[in-house]
Amino acid sequence: MIDRRPVRPRRSCLAVPGSSPKMLAKAQGLGADMVFLDLEDAVAPEAKAAARASVVDALNDGDFSGKTRAVRIHAATTPWCYRDGVSFVECAGLYLDTLVLPKVHDAAHVHWLDLTLTQVERALGLAVGRIGIEAQIESAHGLAEVETIAAASPRLETLVFGPADFMASLGMRTLVVGEQPAGYPDGDAYHYVLMRLLVTARARGVSAIDGPFLQIRDVEGFRRTARRSAALGFDGKWVVHPDQIEAANETYAPSQPDYDRAELILDAYAWATSSAGGRRGAVRLGEEMIDEASRKMALVVAAKGRAAGLVRTSMFTPLDS
Ligand code: GLV
Ligand code: MG
Repeated sequence: MIDRRPVRPRRSCLAVPGSSPKMLAKAQGLGADMVFLDLEDAVAPEAKAAARASVVDALNDGDFSGKTRAVRIHAATTPWCYRDGVSFVECAGLYLDTLVLPKVHDAAHVHWLDLTLTQVERALGLAVGRIGIEAQIESAHGLAEVETIAAASPRLETLVFGPADFMASLGMRTLVVGEQPAGYPDGDAYHYVLMRLLVTARARGVSAIDGPFLQIRDVEGFRRTARRSAALGFDGKWVVHPDQIEAANETYAPSQPDYDRAELILDAYAWATSSAGGRRGAVRLGEEMIDEASRKMALVVAAKGRAAGLVRTSMFTPLDS
């Protein structure tokens, strides 16, 4: 079993219906950090078998370079799931990075998938543990069990919020996925679930990904909902239309001024704590006092900026502090 999961950029996670050969081809040229080829709710029951074959072909023959390649299989309680757990790894295991497991209500779902993957990897002589698991939390039961789910397997890379199924599970009185329900004007109906997922993900060292926004013509609405989870610290969001990709990539990266400031804090603090800088643990930078905790915050923003390919536009000189 591999020791540490790779850290993958996931600002934009593009949903591609496995039943659409056109989208399976088009997705390869789009700028999403991750594509997940969907067999679950975006594919009608009658179309599942053909979609499974198309997804295997796309993984084997397509060019998804630079992107994380995932397949959303069926939930562990469905009649399709046992075959999914085996067939993608058997038929395209070398070209697959993660499996997205939807409707995870219980740690046993993750245990099942972990064991199944291990059996297939051993049988085929593949590296055991390379293929990761992304657990979609989208029910009251799943949220109540999220801590044990997140701890269920070293393969677990991500906790993903599934707002549509979650809203249905709670009985939330709205039809617009991810938008505030009418009659709840002054608060954020999603704060609790987002924060709980995020805290659990960080406690386990895995990524936290927000779910889809289905109003595909309303890119501003997408940005508004994305800003909410990005501000908390989420790593990215599912996108269900190519128009949402750029908005996700921008929203989950820091702004240029924040990125510049983070790099400046890192340089200034490294200098202040050095012997040349007077071995100081707290120092003034412009109008702000910075210390070790400021450095930790700056590391987060700088890492996100570097991963997003931002280039700093200012340099530190000791006169700044
Ligand atoms: C996604 O699967 C959702 O339920 O929102
Ligand atoms: Mg769902």
